Amino acid sequence: MLTRDGEGNAVLGKGRVDATLASAGVSTPAYVYDLDGIVGEAVELSQGFGGQHHLVAYAVKANSAGPILRALAERGVGADVVSGAELELALRCGVDPGNIVYSGVAKSAPEIDRAIAAGIFALQVESVEEIPRIAARAEALGRRVSVSVRINPGIEADTHAYIATGHDEAKFGVPRASIGDAVEALRAAPLVDLVGVGHHIGSQLTSLDEYVSAARMLVPIFATCEAAMLQSGRPALKSIDFGGGFGIDYGAGCPVRPRDFVSAVASELARAGLTHLRATVEPGRSLVGSHGVLVASVIMQKRAGERRWLMIDAGMNDLLRPALYQALHRIEPLALSAGPSDSFRVVGPVCESSDDFGAHVLPVLAPAAVVIRDAGAYGYTMASEYNGRALPSEVFTRDGAVVAVLRARSTADWVAARSAIGL
Ligand code: LLP
Repeated sequence: MLTRDGEGNAVLGKGRVDATLASAGVSTPAYVYDLDGIVGEAVELSQGFGGQHHLVAYAVKANSAGPILRALAERGVGADVVSGAELELALRCGVDPGNIVYSGVAKSAPEIDRAIAAGIFALQVESVEEIPRIAARAEALGRRVSVSVRINPGIEADTHAYIATGHDEAKFGVPRASIGDAVEALRAAPLVDLVGVGHHIGSQLTSLDEYVSAARMLVPIFATCEAAMLQSGRPALKSIDFGGGFGIDYGAGCPVRPRDFVSAVASELARAGLTHLRATVEPGRSLVGSHGVLVASVIMQKRAGERRWLMIDAGMNDLLRPALYQALHRIEPLALSAGPSDSFRVVGPVCESSDDFGAHVLPVLAPAAVVIRDAGAYGYTMASEYNGRALPSEVFTRDGAVVAVLRARSTADWVAARSAIGL
């Protein structure tokens, strides 16, 4: 969480952000993360389950940095991965395979093979058609495979259209009308063990309503699937997965805390007599979002009549969320100063009009550097090298000290890579 010291300097966790960058020896644009804050979120979320048996499977897509994965894995946090690369990374960073779930609508055969070989907790099946594909890979490898069926609950979550995933038109999950077909396909696949059912209705949820409605819909679906499996002599299911999506406060307020979501599902499970199941959640944003910032230097100001722009050295390639979802991240001077302020459009150097971080009130005497808040989730992982810009550096702190640095590659490396012929 970003705070200020007595002199108005930006402080993340226990470290002054300017001192952190200096000690890491990196220049802007750079992401800075507070690992204590991230681990603290995971601990708080676990507490929200009360006595309910559970798994917090961190959605690696939110931020795939090794120091973050390792810090979470050390605390027993699992991983929700969506590609063979994320799976390999989670394993390399010490995540227990028994705590890994693998979602994704179009897993390739090599990706399925890797998941089977690693013995992960569950491949999340997102369509009936996927079941025979996974069964064929299990047969080819002569191994059993555990799967969980991701249901599409047909619920419209109140969030940006691009990140709502549980409605009827979404490509995700098995439609409710096809659950019977999924069960038939599973019965026909002797090497495929159904271990659970789940769903994920969307991201940046700021109300419990749809989340709880979806959970209430999932409980009877679980019972139906389990009964069908037992009937055909297959084992009982072990888990029920309620996805991620817990919203954070980007500045406009967020009435619910992530732990409220898990407490709500724990109550649903208690009511249904399902406390023996491993309740799984897949949070990404809520673990890392508020504990990362993007620091940028101010390049110059521009004026045209009443309009003022503040041009910074971070662009939409470094933080895509404003351009893609019209997301507003608070932008503040790295060091607060006295003096008059005005409204600026903060923009980056990229040659697109969407390279615009929105309107922000900032000192008229431009600060040397700014800090973009709540950039720990879906910042670096969605960054690109567009316009020949290097992916930003990343600095990781614990107890205010730098513990890891992932450096941006140099322009010379970029030119060398892009000018290569590759034969
Ligand atoms: N589980 C599944 C199956 C998901 O698809 C997602 C996110 C998550 C878990 C984690 O959701 P979270 O707890 O982070 O909300 N790039 C967008 C967010 C995309 C989310 C995609 N799926 C953004 O910057 O807002």
